[in-house]
Amino acid sequence: TGYITLDPGYGNTGSCLSAITFIDGEQGILRYRGIDIAELCEKSTFVEVSYLLIYGQLPTVEQYARFKEKIHHHSLIHEDMKSFFTSYPGHAHPMAILSSMVCSLSVYHPELLKPDQTIDERDETISRLLSKVRVLAAFAYKRSVGEAFVYTRPELDYISNFLHMMFTRPMRGYVPDELIRKVLDVLFILHADHEQNCSTSTVRMVGSSKANLFAAISAGICALWGPLHGGANQAVIEMLEEIHRAGGCYKKYIERAKDKNDPYRLMGFGHRVYKSYDPRAQILKKYCDEVLNYLGIDDPILEIAKGLEEVALTDPYFIERKLYPNVDFYSGIIYRALKIPTNMFTVMFALGRLPGWIAHWKEMLEDPGMRIARPRQIYIGERQRPYVPIAQR
Ligand code: CMC
Repeated sequence: TGYITLDPGYGNTGSCLSAITFIDGEQGILRYRGIDIAELCEKSTFVEVSYLLIYGQLPTVEQYARFKEKIHHHSLIHEDMKSFFTSYPGHAHPMAILSSMVCSLSVYHPELLKPDQTIDERDETISRLLSKVRVLAAFAYKRSVGEAFVYTRPELDYISNFLHMMFTRPMRGYVPDELIRKVLDVLFILHADHEQNCSTSTVRMVGSSKANLFAAISAGICALWGPLHGGANQAVIEMLEEIHRAGGCYKKYIERAKDKNDPYRLMGFGHRVYKSYDPRAQILKKYCDEVLNYLGIDDPILEIAKGLEEVALTDPYFIERKLYPNVDFYSGIIYRALKIPTNMFTVMFALGRLPGWIAHWKEMLEDPGMRIARPRQIYIGERQRPYVPIAQR
């Protein structure tokens, strides 16, 4: 095995060629298809960014209209699937529901499961998923709060429809709010792709066996669930709540995070790639302040968050290791302000990341050099041992 290089966590292994997302972790740069993330947040929308990531170019007026129309057209799920939701216990984690439901979608679209799809079939699968995952997420939420499912409305855009499906309640319609819509649009844009992270690599890994897109995305959702990845936004709020319950003294928690004999970590700090400020966090910090002011929110947890942020930016431990607040630090705070329940935070991340996962799956299948993913290992177990019968062990 002398020729196999050990690279735990693939910190230094390029797994593919990709033209989707450029990151310079030292300088804190993030660009989708060459366009800076800050410019996209200012001028674009999540649906347009999805097109950009998946198809490589910003859409023309006609392409954009057709794309939006297709997404709207697919915004119903099969009636049978509604009973799946009610079969879960009310306390079921919405990530578990989402990943199973996405895989279950494949059952209703057997015609879209062919390993070698035509371009039209692939486009059909893509727009169905983009549309339906948002519906599944909203239904999972409605199930968790015991409310009736709400359907999309043709006059609303993608983001407003999601808010409408989440927050319309019987006898009380949904009142669109431009700042809230914009913030959610920005949050989704900022989460839309981040090259070969754990969930995207999972989508590529599963897709490399030519498993269908529904299966690959379902696996990506599971990978995202972990607290070291997308689950960090939920973990951030849980950490802040824990500090609040313990009296609000966050310095003790900073000391714990610095103690090498304690596995405790400050959630929402540090990043494998960014060794400078996470550019997504920088944009979100601004929106975070704006939304909290706009909604007039006075939340003790936010004071703790601000304290942690300040200490981490000035403490030598964090400075030496280049540990800055990451995107999940602020996204959790904004979701909380929007009254999205904590266990839905990672679902929100999944909705945002969906176009990135799809773009990587498509790029991989179109790569003439594509091979099934199959990493090697360095075996460190026993070379050979005899089988010992159970009576003699
Ligand atoms: N709190 C305290 N110490 C930390 C933290 C933290 N959050 N993150 C890293 N460190 C220390 C770590 O102990 C190590 O110290 P030393 O060099 O003395 O052993 C050093 O910093 C380098 O850490 P690492 O574990 O080698 O870094 P990594 O690239 O493997 O891990 C990370 C990156 C994001 C998993 C990690 O920083 C972490 O666990 N952060 C908290 C969870 C989190 O916020 N995750 C969201 C990431 S952003 C969104 C996403 O990608 O999904």
